[in-house]
Amino acid sequence: MSNDHLPEFPAGFWFGAATASYQIEGAVHADGRGPSIWDTYSHTPGLVLNGDTGDVACDHYHRYPEDVELLRRLGVDAYRFSIAWPRVMPTGSGDVNQRGLDFYDRLVDALLEAGITPVPTLYHWDLPQALEDAGGWRSRSTAEHFAAYTRAVVARLGDRIRHWITLNEPFCSAFLGYAVGRHAPGAREGTPALAAAHHLLLAHGLAVQELRAADAGEVGITLNPDRILPASDSAADRAAADRAETLHNRVWFDPLFAGRYPANEADVWGELADGSYRRDGDLEIIGQPLDFLGINYYRPLKVADGPLTEADPARRTAVDIRAHQQRFDGVRHTAMDWPVVPESFTDLLLDLTERYPNLPPIYITENGSAEHDVVSPGGRVHDTDRIAYLNDHLHALAAAIRAGVDVRGYFVWSLLDNFEWAFGYERRFGIVRVDYDTLERLPKDSYFWYQRLIEHHRARHRG
Ligand code: FCB
Repeated sequence: MSNDHLPEFPAGFWFGAATASYQIEGAVHADGRGPSIWDTYSHTPGLVLNGDTGDVACDHYHRYPEDVELLRRLGVDAYRFSIAWPRVMPTGSGDVNQRGLDFYDRLVDALLEAGITPVPTLYHWDLPQALEDAGGWRSRSTAEHFAAYTRAVVARLGDRIRHWITLNEPFCSAFLGYAVGRHAPGAREGTPALAAAHHLLLAHGLAVQELRAADAGEVGITLNPDRILPASDSAADRAAADRAETLHNRVWFDPLFAGRYPANEADVWGELADGSYRRDGDLEIIGQPLDFLGINYYRPLKVADGPLTEADPARRTAVDIRAHQQRFDGVRHTAMDWPVVPESFTDLLLDLTERYPNLPPIYITENGSAEHDVVSPGGRVHDTDRIAYLNDHLHALAAAIRAGVDVRGYFVWSLLDNFEWAFGYERRFGIVRVDYDTLERLPKDSYFWYQRLIEHHRARHRG
């Protein structure tokens, strides 16, 4: 294969791969780990496809040396993983379980030994169940416990880790978890879901303070902003898109990067957005300067105007905002049924940098696709659709950089096939296949493609 059409990036650009604790680790009872909301959710019949759970997952907890070796051979600069709060604090607060931290200690040492920069996320959705029982993200105290947990992690690993991500996609934690109910803890609520969004932002801000106090290096947050397109040019559809902008994007970007709460909250949520969960001074805590912004991008959203799903305000959820998702016609859809629209990636990045002039440098902390992979009789996975997806999105990213967006690196989602939340093991995002019967790892063609891209990048900048 020639290198003619490989996307090109500036010198010093990082290539990485990403995973998350509950999706790959398994070993849910090992070394004193406590239960998380995802253990509870996945063990509740009917909530996860095929009844799958993260009990074993990829058994990365025991097989991490093999996975680090896969990363080393891939040639990545950095590896994004997440730390499981319930391993570090089994009930979410109080005593620190050093045996849980021992695992990350070993992992970090193995990565450094392999020449790979560790980039942990402190929260990728596995809230300790005991904290959920006390209100979860609806409660302000969860944000305070998150700060204490952050302090414990940085005290143990801060000597070797110099890049930290506080939260992964708080949109999903707050709104899929507490409003749609398709993620743990599976609630469908209004004001409490908006409170959850606020407390997640507060938790981020309090964690930033802890990391700064510990002189921990570079600190950022990972968001999943959506490129939102109105279904038509009508005023009603454009207004629906504007409401969706607030739900998906402004809720996070305005307090983090513009020192304000979204101006149109009352239009979007009416009496649900009563602000009862906010206190004076919160905006200052939330909006502290960051060293980088992580962006996860997969697909754009198209929305149209329509009626509220629930007429009774007492039963209305925070995602019920008269903006109804529409299908994209004439484009390929992945195994997630997500439309493949790479140019939306470029547009999103350009648009965000224009709307928020104070954005810090960006890392793409996730991008990838689930495909219907097949193992060939020769024992290979010829995942050409995934390669096309990655290639097209990396070209779209390179175009954004050429147009002036400051992007410093890219992490493919995911190193391994893994537990894809409510879709269980059926949806495969890995560039390495995992056989869930034997737990054997098999690099797919996309793994070798990515390896070649990284080699090409290095050769270009050496020469
Ligand atoms: C993101 C999540 C990640 C993974 C991908 C497909 O929303 O952060 O854990 O599930 O989607």
